[in-house]
Amino acid sequence: MAEVRGIGLSGQMHGAVLLNEQDRPLRPAILWNDGRSMREAEDLGKDYPELSESAGVIPMPGFTAPKLLWVARHEPQVFSAVRKILLPKDYVRLRMTGECVTDMSDAAGTWWLDEASRSWSDRALAVTGLDRSQMPHLVEGTQPSGVLRSDLAREWGMRGDVVIAGGAGDAAAGAIGLGAIDEVSAFISLGTSGQLFVTTRTFRPAPETLLHAFCHALPERWFQMAAMLNGASCLSWAAGLLKAEIKPLLDQAEERYQKPSNLIFLPYLAGERTPHNDPYARGVFFGLTPETCQSELVQAVLEGVAFSFADAKQCLEQAGTRLTSIGLIGGGSRSSFWAQILANVLDLPLVRYEGADKGPAFGAARLARLASTGEQPEAVCTQPQRLQTIHPHTHLVDLYAPRLEAFRSLYHALRPEFK
Ligand code: XUL
Repeated sequence: MAEVRGIGLSGQMHGAVLLNEQDRPLRPAILWNDGRSMREAEDLGKDYPELSESAGVIPMPGFTAPKLLWVARHEPQVFSAVRKILLPKDYVRLRMTGECVTDMSDAAGTWWLDEASRSWSDRALAVTGLDRSQMPHLVEGTQPSGVLRSDLAREWGMRGDVVIAGGAGDAAAGAIGLGAIDEVSAFISLGTSGQLFVTTRTFRPAPETLLHAFCHALPERWFQMAAMLNGASCLSWAAGLLKAEIKPLLDQAEERYQKPSNLIFLPYLAGERTPHNDPYARGVFFGLTPETCQSELVQAVLEGVAFSFADAKQCLEQAGTRLTSIGLIGGGSRSSFWAQILANVLDLPLVRYEGADKGPAFGAARLARLASTGEQPEAVCTQPQRLQTIHPHTHLVDLYAPRLEAFRSLYHALRPEFK
């Protein structure tokens, strides 16, 4: 009978889970898309500009360090009781193993990690009033972080020592699942949030571009990532508002699709990180007329998210990274219509892989295998079977270029109004 030998963890990044002496949460966790610490992020960036290089990115409100500065300023009694700070998936690990551990790729998103040396930065911790004793122990994603508690193993019908791998933040775990472990293997993750992710064999910070240069889930690898807060969540939001299922909405929009929509949708429902660092940005429909129909609204939503990926691509190009083709994963990858719009807007072929909609979970399972067998990453982190390559349609690429410029101008014109 097959038996479980290892478990890998993956989860949303950047969240602050604050624990007391008894390992109990001191307050509700502050999550990745929470923009309350804009002032604190600005202060850190202004007062300690040199730290952005070692942390791989300028401080932005989604990251854990500015959140802790916010807690220190607004909830000093909570701040002074903080014994440990964990990331969301690592709290699950604590309950499974009794250990306070995180992996490099998730630690990378705190702004407290020295990304080049893969160790906590005492200086970055000190400027937020913290020290190493409050941080979890660091392991690589492929290393064991502990074993499943025996009472849980019994309850779950598992035998022997079940290894819990370091695991990874959702972005890096997605890369492991897709076999994106070599220089410049790139993919788009179109989940709740959106990411454009490129693996690198050296640490390549470009903080001024708002790219995140972070440790990968494998030793001696890093990645560059544009992180957008609004991905497939925009389509779910629109479907909720229109009181319709996503599938028929996509089918109707695809049926009438011939050219770019006359509408522009700014997808910044939750504010935006790359390329704007603007937690105050908001969603906008621009260009509504009495003729605007439901399908055009849906098309504009798909295009708005695609335009935000074009901005991400531009950030990578500014950092010197050129892409020739990109993988596509996450729930949004199920729609070949959306993939076609992305290819047209980005002017790049997109590749869909077998099982790609499973996203990070498959990568976490691969990390569990590596941690429990000691196999080589190259043998395990292979590319899944290619299902389809979606090529851009040249005449639409040309039509989308001016629409992208209009999208960009609209955001810049509205930015002062968002505050
Ligand atoms: C990455 C990011 C998101 C969250 C939630 O920087 O903020 O990927 O991890 O998906």
